[in-house]
Amino acid sequence: MIALILKENNPLETRVAASPSSVKDMIKFGLTVQIDSGAGVASFMSDDDYSEAGAEILKTGSEQISKADIILKVMPPTLEEIANFKSNSIFISFFQTTRELSTVKALAEKSVTGFSMHLIPRTTLAQKMDALSSQTNIAGYKAVLMAATRLGVYMPLLMTAAGTIRPAKVLILGAGVAGLQAIATAKRLGAQVEVFDVRPVVKEQVESLGAKFIEVESESEDGVGEGGYAKETSDDYKQRQQEMIHEHISKSNIVITTALIPGRPAPLLIPTSMVEAMKPGSVIMDLAAENGGNCELTQKDKIIEHNQVTIDGTSNIPGLMPVDASELYSKNITAFLTYMVKEGQINLDREDEIISGALFTHEGDITHKPTQEALNA
Ligand code: NAI
Repeated sequence: MIALILKENNPLETRVAASPSSVKDMIKFGLTVQIDSGAGVASFMSDDDYSEAGAEILKTGSEQISKADIILKVMPPTLEEIANFKSNSIFISFFQTTRELSTVKALAEKSVTGFSMHLIPRTTLAQKMDALSSQTNIAGYKAVLMAATRLGVYMPLLMTAAGTIRPAKVLILGAGVAGLQAIATAKRLGAQVEVFDVRPVVKEQVESLGAKFIEVESESEDGVGEGGYAKETSDDYKQRQQEMIHEHISKSNIVITTALIPGRPAPLLIPTSMVEAMKPGSVIMDLAAENGGNCELTQKDKIIEHNQVTIDGTSNIPGLMPVDASELYSKNITAFLTYMVKEGQINLDREDEIISGALFTHEGDITHKPTQEALNA
């Protein structure tokens, strides 16, 4: 079977779907690996590195795409690429199928078996394949560094001959994968970190990282939904939450927002009035920019200033750290392929939770229910 790694066509995408070390792994389990020339350049992985790993280097956009059995990418495929895919080939990339409906339709019409790394369930068994977590972890780490470089103040407490510098205050909204990594990074830099999440169960994890968990008093199990994920909160809870965030945000130098309710637009936590209550020179990193933003003023892929507060809506932060982002992403993909390959062949076990969870098109059908529903709507 031929596995082809495509060069990304979005100029903002610096990652590559397979690193030279994962190419070696794929060859080990029986695949012939081909890669578009220059596919790894933006991740500092050269054609020579891939060649040494055993891959065949192709001219970008070559006809070979129509012969590949497995096609790998980071971003969704373009309609031109899909037109050249072989029917019944397997395509794997990282995209939100409910928002890329024309692409999903084109893949189904071409009878491509489509998998999205975005849909790999966050279960213990699937941990190795969990690209959402590997990439989000990077976003949480890097967001703190990006904010820190914009600040006009130190992050740690410093006792100098000229006097004592107080540590910067970092407020983190949402303590999931990105939030926990942001806490750890801000703590390592010496900042004082406060954290809010609607799920009280994360309190222990937050405190174990040395941060302070701030809570909204609530009598109900507000905030905790199916499978332990966050859910929509009541109006009363929202009101109390707003008051509490307002109180803490006005003292913060950095705010990192990562609040997410699966399958919903990002909850609005920071209205303009709250930005206006912040200290001049402070920074908001809105990680939820892709899904509408947790801050009212956020603009996707723009860095704006309002009242001397910077609001950063960069939506592809992992792409700013392409070496590790590509290495981890390709490890996730290789783990997924390894999981599916049985005796040298892809075994599409539709009963398997991970395989059926990540599958969205097969034999002309759209198999992912929410995507089908979005198309019907
Ligand atoms: P996650 O699901 O692990 O964590 C989200 C957290 O937000 C949960 O702990 C949840 O309880 C909390 N939350 C939900 N509603 C809340 C509310 N109203 N107030 C406070 N907390 C609330 O999600 P993960 O993987 O950490 O992703 C976080 C965000 O980062 C997502 O929006 C994701 O799309 C984004 N992301 C952004 C990247 C970028 O480059 N900008 C890259 C990767 C992910």
